[in-house]
Amino acid sequence: MLPKKIILDCDPGHDDAIAMLLAHGNPNIELLAVTTVAGNQTLDKVTRNALCIARIANIHNVPFAAGCHRPLVREIKTAPDIHGETGLDGPTLPDPSMRLDARHAVDLIIDVIMENPPKSVTLVPTAGLTNIAMAVRKAPHIVERVKEVVLMGGGYHKGNRSATAEFNIFIDPEAAHIVFNEKWPLTMVGLDLTHQAQATPDVIEAISRIKTRPAKFVLDALEFYGETYRQNQGFNYPPVHDPCAVAYVIDPTVMTTQKVPVNIELAGALTTGMTVADFRYPIPEDCHTQVAVKLDQTKFWQLVIDALKNIGETNG
Ligand code: BDR
Ligand code: CA
Repeated sequence: MLPKKIILDCDPGHDDAIAMLLAHGNPNIELLAVTTVAGNQTLDKVTRNALCIARIANIHNVPFAAGCHRPLVREIKTAPDIHGETGLDGPTLPDPSMRLDARHAVDLIIDVIMENPPKSVTLVPTAGLTNIAMAVRKAPHIVERVKEVVLMGGGYHKGNRSATAEFNIFIDPEAAHIVFNEKWPLTMVGLDLTHQAQATPDVIEAISRIKTRPAKFVLDALEFYGETYRQNQGFNYPPVHDPCAVAYVIDPTVMTTQKVPVNIELAGALTTGMTVADFRYPIPEDCHTQVAVKLDQTKFWQLVIDALKNIGETNG
């Protein structure tokens, strides 16, 4: 089987970091590019974090580019309550050794899609959708060309930044509206699914047996992230959202999905940024969206652990 080509658009972020390690360490994924966008922290911070993770994981020959420094319409809202002041508080990070691609992330996304065969590139956004929305508006022909969009964001029964909105959609609902309304196949890996991916003590135990630099980084990241999730969100064990989207690309049987139309609330008094899923019968023929429902937790964590083992020891 040929590896699946992905572009990871992210805002590292503890769980984005694990998503990047999973993508890099899994042989069924070809990581074509990593792009960053303001979200968990400011653009300069999340971009630096992305480059530090590249060094820790020994990622070479993959272009990294910085993208939008704020949402399309709204002021930037970051998440220091979960990810700390640097966006990746907790682990000790090395100085970056790789240089950023000179292109803006939006241009890199467009170039990579157009350089690859039609319907071969999957977009995996694990952050606000500003870069992806900008790419669509700049180069609408990419929509036809992309294989599918598999994003972490949203949720169909609750939010985490408001009663009804999840962070990635909440921070840039206008961008999400653009991305969800383009006619590409789109899988929403939302909170309904990612809250099933909690780093429980047995997961921590399995990762701690790997004893490599990247595994130690993941343990340190999960320690900080577990504490903020405990204190600020009332979770016993932290939900590790972003790698779930990568896991679905690797092996769609890792979760069940349901085809339903999803649209983004832009004007709600209480619900702005809600991903409104319409579960009524019948499903419209032109429905191009599906939502993730149930995670096979054993399979998911095995993918993460195998990826860390594949990466092996590094000197990052
Ligand atoms: C999402 O928000 C961010 O804080 C995480 O990295 C994840 O992408 C979860 O709501
Ligand atoms: Ca993220």
